Amino acid sequence: AVERTLSIIKPDATRRNLTGKINAVFEGNGLRIVAQKRIQLTKATAGAFYEVHKERPFYNDLVSFMISGPVVVQVLEGENAVLKNREVMGATDPKKAEAHTIRAQFAESIEANSVHGSDSLENAKNEISFFFAGTEILP
Ligand code: CMP
Repeated sequence: AVERTLSIIKPDATRRNLTGKINAVFEGNGLRIVAQKRIQLTKATAGAFYEVHKERPFYNDLVSFMISGPVVVQVLEGENAVLKNREVMGATDPKKAEAHTIRAQFAESIEANSVHGSDSLENAKNEISFFFAGTEILP
């Protein structure tokens, strides 16, 4: 089925001017960018977005990293978009990611791993509405 998933191009990637290269990987794999904006997250917004990781040891560092520069939040649409995007991104740890994936090609570390993608259809719906109004999504 055609699905939508939330993607974030993280500060390590915007800093290195990789937005276009990463978007080319999405588009080359049949994912369509149906909404996109470059924003500066605040501590409150990043903290709320990553609320599920609140008890994890990496939470504070993750929030600091995510506000260290602009991010590009986007909605990707396509057949099986949630799983497709996770395959295109590769494993969270770039050392474990397959060679053709975004993280293997571009990520700096498990934290500065260039992209975020929703991990389930249900989370995708919540994460998309966290950042986008329905009127901002234009298929
Ligand atoms: P993301 O898909 O955005 O979801 C949680 C993020 O936490 C993850 O990508 C990584 O950027 C970051 N992170 C930092 N350290 C770890 C870790 N040890 N395990 C998992 N995620 C981590």
